[in-house]
This record gives sequence, structure tokens and C-alpha cells, in this order.
Amino acid sequence: MKVIVMDNALEISKAASDIIIKQVNNKHGSVLGFATGASPVETYKRIIEAYERNEVSLKYITTFNLDEYVGLDRENVNSYFYFMKDNLFGKTDVDFSRVNFLSGTAENMEAECERYSQKIKESGGIDIQLLGIGTNGHIGFNEPGDKFADGPFAVKLTQSTIDSNKKYFEAVGDTMPEYALTMGIGDIMRSKKIILIATGESKAKAVKELVEGEVSPACPATILKLHADVTVFLDKESAALLSKDR
Ligand code: GLP
Repeated sequence: MKVIVMDNALEISKAASDIIIKQVNNKHGSVLGFATGASPVETYKRIIEAYERNEVSLKYITTFNLDEYVGLDRENVNSYFYFMKDNLFGKTDVDFSRVNFLSGTAENMEAECERYSQKIKESGGIDIQLLGIGTNGHIGFNEPGDKFADGPFAVKLTQSTIDSNKKYFEAVGDTMPEYALTMGIGDIMRSKKIILIATGESKAKAVKELVEGEVSPACPATILKLHADVTVFLDKESAALLSKDR
């Protein structure tokens, strides 16, 4: 796991977007795994700027997103589909027919998870998976637990995750869903390359566990240590608790 501490979120976004843009330009029909939340937003902005300068086209990429809230349809401003449309897809030439999402309104969640799993396989696998990290060490919505999940599944969100994310729902007078669908740890680990972005003091504890802790489902992100190609981008605040002699 390569850990890179940068001055701020802007520097991180430049480095992370460079890797993604290179991937897209080097391989026609690249398969990208995207994340939601505040962490990747700046990176998406840099990709949009590169698109506007004609330095990259997203027309032929296939995309998979990590997760979606149960009960929210695509038009809901707090759905992760809406987030991606608003923060990246709708501002570039992404072809929505190649955008893949877990559906939060699927009648049969198990079948929906199986469908998504098949889609990932059929795509040939994810070339780059972008990740954030929850304050409790979750990736996607793989919450701390006693085992790592392989494929996509429905998850009951922990109180810590609800506390971190409920502000977005309260802002529009909604209650945050308690369940989500998420890619499993296996899906994430099968990605050829992984980029994780963590910024701000609130992530410092999870980052310390990720970098210095043992691999354990109690902090799901620690599994990334077993992957051959992971780059972790940190700002000074999120790296603050790391041992100096690392
Ligand atoms: C959310 C998402 C994750 C995201 C994480 C951190 O709950 N499910 O994919 O990485 O929490 O979010 P943020 O970047 O807003 O801190």
C-alpha cells in the first residue's frame, strides 16, 4: 500500500485525477469504479476541467458505483446516482447506458445484488476503484463487523455512519435511510488498481488503523493491505496520528 501525504485536498485531487485520466486515455473502454461522499468531489472537478479542455473523454468508459441507499430513486437529491450525475456524469460526455448502479428501489434486493455482481464480471473487472473511508473505517458501505463480504449485499448502516451522513438528509427535511446496498469487499479487492482518498481530522483515527493496524473486518479498510496496487492519498490532518517513524 503506497501512502502519500499531500499538503491539501487540491493537491490530492490533481494527483488522483491524473491517474484516472491516464487510465481512460491509455485504455479505450476503461472500467472505473466511483465513490460518493465529500472525499472524491475535488477529484471529479479536476476530471470535469480536463474534459472541458478536451484532454479526456469519458464517452466510452463503463462505470460502477460502490453503493446506494435503499428506498431512494435516482431523482432523489440524496441518492448516490443523483450525486454522480450532479458531480461528474452530467458535466461530461459519460454515456449513461454504460453507467452501472445498484438500484435502491429494486423489489428483490438479493436479485439486484446478483445482477450487479454479474455486470461487474461481464465488464471484465474494474480497472481503477476510487474509495473514500468512513470515520469507522468502512469502505463503500462495508461496515465494521466480524467478516468480510465478497459480493454486493444489503447492509444495515451503523449509528456512526448515520451520524456522519444524516446532515445531507436533514438539509432537505428527510430522514436518512437505515439500509443501503453496497459492493462487497471481494468486489473492491478484485479491482486492478485502488485509490483511496481521506482528508480532514475526522478521518485520522480510521487512517491510523488502515495504515498501521492489523487486517480485520472490525476496520474493513484494513483489507486493502492485501491488495497489490493501492495508493492512499492523505492530507496532513488525516495523517496526523500516523507514527512519525513510518
Ligand atoms: C459514505 C460512503 C462511502 C464514503 C464514506 C466517506 O458513507 N458510503 O463510499 O467513502 O462514507 O464519506 P465522505 O467522503 O463524505 O467523508
